[in-house]
Amino acid sequence: TRIDKAGHKHFMAKEIAEQPVVLSDALAAYLTGDGIALPDPGVDFSRIDRLTMVACGTAFYACFTAKYWFEQLAGLPVEVDIASEFRYREPPVLPGTTALFVSQSGETADTLAALRYCKNKADRILSVVNVAESSIARESDLALPIHAGVEVGVASTKAFTCQLNVLLLLAIKAAEDRGRLSAEDRDAMLAALRTLPGVMNAALARDNAFEHIARQLSEARDILFLGRGLMYPLALEGALKLKEISYIHAEAYASGELKHGPIALIDKTVPVVVMAPRDRLFEKTVSNMQEVMARGGKVVLITDAKGAEIAGQDVWHVIQMPEVPEILTPLLYALPAQLLAYHTAIAKGTDVDQPRNLAKSVTVE
Ligand code: G6P
Repeated sequence: TRIDKAGHKHFMAKEIAEQPVVLSDALAAYLTGDGIALPDPGVDFSRIDRLTMVACGTAFYACFTAKYWFEQLAGLPVEVDIASEFRYREPPVLPGTTALFVSQSGETADTLAALRYCKNKADRILSVVNVAESSIARESDLALPIHAGVEVGVASTKAFTCQLNVLLLLAIKAAEDRGRLSAEDRDAMLAALRTLPGVMNAALARDNAFEHIARQLSEARDILFLGRGLMYPLALEGALKLKEISYIHAEAYASGELKHGPIALIDKTVPVVVMAPRDRLFEKTVSNMQEVMARGGKVVLITDAKGAEIAGQDVWHVIQMPEVPEILTPLLYALPAQLLAYHTAIAKGTDVDQPRNLAKSVTVE
């Protein structure tokens, strides 16, 4: 099939806009009948002691997000690492370990080498891939497709949300297998997940709110992203997206680390993007945000309606997202992170689909 931009200016814009549709496709593939159906031979998480997740780039941030899900929902210890470090550190892989590799292309050299390192050491090798006929898929005991469709933009967008989706389904299944989640609670989570494509459409409809903010962000030299809990990996992904395509220096910190360094950078020239849905940690993130504002930092607060009502005064800009259950916030908040990066790059006039020096798939070291 020929891939075109379907009326969009860039592949990245098309792929951002496609997310509700590909997420629906992915859910239809995994939610057949009762609960979550994995391809044969499936996975029984009650027999796993720990999970080691390894990837590069955006796929690594999907792993990092999933660590929070697996640990909170399923009580399963998770180690995450970037593949280029993991493969040469040669860490011990203890019996009871399942190794999980996440890769859009399925061909990233470091991730493949990390997978090969785990062969004959881990009990089992799983992968979460977009390209089903890839090396990483072939060399795994079980490869789980994310159903994102072909992704052309070098900066990953729909593959990220579809990776998150499969990883969340695995974490929910793990919670169930390990006796931590009743069938009713599982059904409630899956029902909420099924509404997410519609919620994403509502979030994407606010696209033009981003243009104005992005024009101002495009004048910055440095931008800081802050988040706590599930929003920490999302802040990292937001900063990565922005630097990849706008070439603005962007850095992400866990909000609680602010006072251990980055607060020294804050002045009126450094915009700070705060990702803070009204979750369990909202109050703490808001207090970090106020520390930024007290030092003249210009805050872009990404939150929901109640969050905006509580904390939206005196911030530079508020971006309002629909309200979703806490476990779903990473999939939804990926969208404003992508849109901020996209529109900032447009304002700067960079080549969004082919950013300088970057490759879609890094198949050599
Ligand atoms: C490159 C791409 C990124 C991607 C990373 C990992 O750096 O530009 O978008 O996240 O590789 O790629 P993979 O195919 O393994 O997910």
